[in-house]
Amino acid sequence: MLPRMRERPVTCGLLGCGTVGGGVVRLLTRDPAKVTRRVGVPIEIRRVLVRDLGKARVPELDGRLLTTDASEVLDDPDIEMVIEVMGGAEPTLDHLMRAIDAKKGVVTANKLLLATAGKQLLERAQAAGVDLAFEGAVGGGVPIVRTLREALASDRVESITGIVNGTSNYVLTRMLDAGLSLDDAVAEAQARGYAEADPTMDVGGGDAAQKLSILAMLGFGAAADYADLHVEGIQAIAPIDHRFAERFAYRIKHLAIGRDHGDEVELRVHPCLLPQRSVLANVDGVLNAVTLTGEALGPCLVSGQGAGDLPTAVSVVSDALDVARSLVAGVAGLQTRAIAYEARPLRAMAAIETRYYIRFTVLDEPGVIAAIAGRLGDAGVSIEQLVQDGPRPEPGEPATVVMLTHRAREGAVQAALGALREATFMVEPARLLRIEEP
Ligand code: NAP
Ligand code: HSE
Repeated sequence: MLPRMRERPVTCGLLGCGTVGGGVVRLLTRDPAKVTRRVGVPIEIRRVLVRDLGKARVPELDGRLLTTDASEVLDDPDIEMVIEVMGGAEPTLDHLMRAIDAKKGVVTANKLLLATAGKQLLERAQAAGVDLAFEGAVGGGVPIVRTLREALASDRVESITGIVNGTSNYVLTRMLDAGLSLDDAVAEAQARGYAEADPTMDVGGGDAAQKLSILAMLGFGAAADYADLHVEGIQAIAPIDHRFAERFAYRIKHLAIGRDHGDEVELRVHPCLLPQRSVLANVDGVLNAVTLTGEALGPCLVSGQGAGDLPTAVSVVSDALDVARSLVAGVAGLQTRAIAYEARPLRAMAAIETRYYIRFTVLDEPGVIAAIAGRLGDAGVSIEQLVQDGPRPEPGEPATVVMLTHRAREGAVQAALGALREATFMVEPARLLRIEEP
């Protein structure tokens, strides 16, 4: 038990009480004695902002706390901490700025805001001497923010590679294991509370890019606008790609990849082929997993439930306990002060180097393989494996040819594919997936 520095509870207001907010209410009210042991005093929920007063809420919530008037949370001098789980950019940013200016501690799970206005929010919080905690913004219940901010503070983080979108991973897993269509698998993820309000942020890779820009800020000290990152989603992955990946002993996963090259940072988000035996290839369903490599530490893996009400609420409520403890101890603002970052040049995609899976749909005629190999060879791209497979094409019908390359520069591979685009034997554009060997 902490020494009692004050008797009165830490008071908080919630902005939002949907999937994550409901989980927060349940965890905060489940074991008040435990909260008191951790903080020194209880945490009391004073007000809960929502849009619709008539909606059903978790039974643990006292309905009398609900309001649709944000000022009842933000302008109440008796509320010391604001927990933001409403999402979106506006009016949320304005709400958080008002909370910070009123010297309230802030906990948020809003990766969109952190990725777009993180600098603004952190500087404001640092100037106001308040904490801004955001573990729930990356990886749901996976403690990745704390790991980077605290556990690896003494090391130089060289790389961050992970599955950071639970919805995409769930969708890929259900498509592969149960043969579901993309739309059906997304609908399942939505029903389970994993998806964003706009699920194209999940399947299109935007959500993962927001998270990677937050991780790059914490891990590499790099301020990167997520809109500048190379981002591909999972929409274009066809069942045939899963089959070929399996044949070559790989699995397809959607990854966020960050590397600190010193002069530049490499930040990209896209589907990848991963060796079947690798840890990340076996992280399925809504699970997230991130491998961090520290110069001194070497590799370190954190993994767990990447989305959903209670897993995310674990992160949010743990942040709330930290912020409340700092308020009680009179040391508010310490964790925010420790975050430092600056603008760093981003490595261009053309300059990255990796191996590639390239699937061609071509007419089955003499000279096609030689033409493709020739273009790749001219660009300095060496083929490591090649298969032509599928039902034997009738004359004039397309054939599927898949090539795996040795390591090559992306610019060279794209140049070769660009030169092949107009070839008369190309039935559709080549499908390129990068191969990661973590
Ligand atoms: P949600 O289920 O849609 O809940 C949003 C809540 O905010 C609802 O209670 C809604 O009120 C309220 N709200 C939204 N806009 C409002 C406005 N303008 N004024 C007043 N209230 C408003 O969303 P969620 O899934 O809990 O996500 C919340 C945040 O957590 C987002 O930033 C999301 O990215 C993040 N997050 C979610 C997960 C997850 O697994 N779902 C995981 C990690 C992080 P009503 O209920 O009245 O509509
Ligand atoms: N929509 C997000 C996901 C929620 O699926 O990962 C967790 O941030």
